[in-house]
Amino acid sequence: MTIRTRLALGVALQTAAVILVVAAVQFLALRSFLALAEYERLEMLIPRLEQELAARPQSPAAPPLEITTLPRNVDVRVVQGGQVVAVTENFPPIPVDLPPGYAPRAGHDVLVATVTLRGRAATAQLASDVLGVVNPLRAYLRALAVTVPTAAALVALLSFVLAGRLLRPLDRLQAAAARVGLGGDLRSPLPGVGRNDELGRLAGALQGSFAQLAEVREREEEFTRAAAHDLRSPLAALKTRLQGSLAGPRSAAELREDITEALSDVERMRRLTEHLLLLAQGVREVARLPVDLARVAGEAVDRAREAAPDVPLDFETRGETTVPGDEALLTHLLENLIGNGVRHGRGAPMRVRVAEQGGLVCLAVEDAGPGVPEAVLTRLTEPFYQVEAARGGGNGLGLAIVRRVAEAHGALLHFENQPAGGLLVTIEFPRAPTA
Ligand SMILES: Nc1ncnc2c1ncn2[C@@H]1O[C@H](COP(=O)(O)OP(=O)(O)OP(=O)(O)O)[C@@H](O)[C@H]1O
Ligand SMILES: [Mg+2]
Repeated sequence: MTIRTRLALGVALQTAAVILVVAAVQFLALRSFLALAEYERLEMLIPRLEQELAARPQSPAAPPLEITTLPRNVDVRVVQGGQVVAVTENFPPIPVDLPPGYAPRAGHDVLVATVTLRGRAATAQLASDVLGVVNPLRAYLRALAVTVPTAAALVALLSFVLAGRLLRPLDRLQAAAARVGLGGDLRSPLPGVGRNDELGRLAGALQGSFAQLAEVREREEEFTRAAAHDLRSPLAALKTRLQGSLAGPRSAAELREDITEALSDVERMRRLTEHLLLLAQGVREVARLPVDLARVAGEAVDRAREAAPDVPLDFETRGETTVPGDEALLTHLLENLIGNGVRHGRGAPMRVRVAEQGGLVCLAVEDAGPGVPEAVLTRLTEPFYQVEAARGGGNGLGLAIVRRVAEAHGALLHFENQPAGGLLVTIEFPRAPTA
């Protein structure tokens, strides 16, 4: 069932319910009003009754008197000294000794009152059939039986029309969203954006989500393009090299040199695919085992010293430096940072520090090289971003991975240029809870 129909039916039901409640209250009020009126009418008949009785012959032996001057739907019985002295034809079967007052009995409204007959007190019982009360009430109910369904139907119709008008922009929004879903432009403006109501907010939220999707899609496309590009250059270089090796006669030494260079191309591609895999998989699922960051950093420093013996590389550690994390990912992070210092720092001295600091474990990797322009500090972790157009052998993926690894460990990553030149990268890790 559509919202429109549900709204129309709901409003109609509510209207009917409200009318019925009001009608019930009115019904009760009307009934007591009619009963009161009937009581007063019967009371007003008593003087007439006394007059008629007084005008009758006064013979105790005479049969009960007929009473003729009362309205048709009122019957009377007069009792004196336990004897019925007057009664109308259709008087209902009710006891003779009822106490004075007004009450419904045997389908009649009965008034019992004291009257004076031949100088003595007697009891007059006046009974009116309840039609005087029931008929107006019946008429009222008949009117209700027509009014309630008519009102409910009218309200349902009006609500249906109104809901249709109110929901029309929603239809337009849905159509626009469907067009986008069928391959339309994710950034095309949606109808309803800017309205100051629920619909405007919905359209705004949808527009925001679409914009985010567009961004993700563009980033993905850019990422794929860059990845393909970066794989193509070393592959082309490798192909040329191998073709050259095959083309002419080569000495063993030359062949060895070709193979070594080919290997370095292969190594570059291996690093690239490894990075791409890490980025594609995401590093959301991280082991949370205690890892001594100082030990992992020390081992990475040792390997870097071996690989680049010319770069002076200092290593310091202080305090308890165990963090909850994934040793393989942390090793990767350290190798990327130290590798960057070695490669982009142009042989300038480097320093790696791991220190406990106010409940955190702080890792700092710095070099005394040229650093990066201030304006691009925030861009360093974008995939494939490199400051210099000539990509000194790298792919611009290392820092993107560093950022993801840091995020996955709940660590804060920060880049800054040092006053004396050179890049300083700091990462603050939450400490492992001491067992
Ligand atoms: N220590 C540094 N000093 C100067 N520039 C740096 C330093 N570290 C990174 N950069 C700049 O940031 C860019 C991005 O670094 P990133 O590690 O992401 O990529 P890469 O080192 O070029 O390639 P990859 O790490 O994928 O092999 C580098 O290309 C370089 O321009
Ligand atoms: Mg790098």
